[in-house]
Amino acid sequence: MPFALIMLRMAAYWDTVPFSGIIRIRDMMYSVDRPFRLDQGDVSFDAPSSVKEALSQAIAANRSHYVQTTGIPPLLKLLVEKLQRRNGIPVDDPDEVMVTTGGIHGVYAVCQGLLEPGDEVLVPDPEWPPALGNVLAARAVPVPYPLYESRGWRPDVDEMRRLVTAKTRAIYVNSPNNPTGGVLTPPDLEAIAELARERDLWVISDEAYEDVVFDVGDDRGGARARHEPPSLASLPGMYARTIPLYTFSKTYAMTGLRLGYIAVRDAVLRDRVKKVLFYTVANTSSLIQYGGIGALEGSQEVVAEFRRELAARRDLFYAGIREAAPGVLSGRPPDGAFYAFLRVDSAWRSPMSDAPASPSWAMTEFLIKRGRIGCVPGVDFGTHGEGYVRFCFARDPAELTGALASMKQLLAIEAGHRAH
Ligand SMILES: Cc1ncc(COP(=O)(O)O)c(C=O)c1O
Repeated sequence: MPFALIMLRMAAYWDTVPFSGIIRIRDMMYSVDRPFRLDQGDVSFDAPSSVKEALSQAIAANRSHYVQTTGIPPLLKLLVEKLQRRNGIPVDDPDEVMVTTGGIHGVYAVCQGLLEPGDEVLVPDPEWPPALGNVLAARAVPVPYPLYESRGWRPDVDEMRRLVTAKTRAIYVNSPNNPTGGVLTPPDLEAIAELARERDLWVISDEAYEDVVFDVGDDRGGARARHEPPSLASLPGMYARTIPLYTFSKTYAMTGLRLGYIAVRDAVLRDRVKKVLFYTVANTSSLIQYGGIGALEGSQEVVAEFRRELAARRDLFYAGIREAAPGVLSGRPPDGAFYAFLRVDSAWRSPMSDAPASPSWAMTEFLIKRGRIGCVPGVDFGTHGEGYVRFCFARDPAELTGALASMKQLLAIEAGHRAH
């Protein structure tokens, strides 16, 4: 079949872009009756009424036509204000802000606009898989830099420096990090900025979880933002070489609506990214952009409320893990994002006869198939994630307690079998 052969040759590089293991998990979860969906990185909250009202009004006003490729002017104006005030980024002009169809689309557009084939990009390990996937999709080469649990899941910037070669074009930074919840400190950010300036590198600063930073030491319940970690783009001279990337998904519980944005100071890069946006979506959905205006103009108390609730769920989940899986799963509650990235005890062995060799996958398959508990193997986020499993604690408390009860029973049964 010559037609199929030509197709194979034409886009073969896509075969090197992995599908996230999350897809394999999703397929496994479909065969589970009454599953606990702690595998999904989605909050159980609904979008605030300010968003829903703005969407309804946009429908009633027939906002259903093509709009500007990089975003509608009233949304861009609000985003400029937000980037200046909240993130301290010296954005001058609405033209610098580009609206995307979710954060993942922003990552795609930036990688396509910025990278040449063969360019190296330093990417955290572990990291949300689409970061690496999008570097590969741009025919560039991801170079993993480890995050260390012993350092609160932060990197060693001297080690990052040693990974830089003549081919390095950019550093991907993600703080708070998915899957580990690690948050970079101001000195970390300074050191990364220094490295970027010294070696003349771009920085893609993924700040998708900017509003999910907990104050673990807060005596009022651990729900106040600890410190607003500054954006890398706000450090002196850094906006020129940093593309900060945001999403409405996590902050406003708008995951399915698909709205994100980036800011690009460099006019040449901006034109390239604009072409990628045009050729992929022409414009991000007009209605959703009005929903975004509703989110920004509405009360921001909802963001603080989500954060308080997430802190309570984090505490509930970690207390439950200590009871359900002592000596089997462990880890320190994260400073940010909404995932528990837990270490599987190295002595643990799956009782399943067909268990995979990878400890991450063995625990994941055991919890899903025997306990109905959705989770993601740490190794799916990079080789440094092997031996860990990720659970999302942004799910409904009833779902969390159901999963914990199932885990407790499962591990107790297993311990009982081993004792006999
Ligand atoms: C680190 C990180 N960046 C970006 C995104 C993009 O989110 P979305 O495409 O829903 O805006 C996610 C989503 O899970 C994420 O975890």
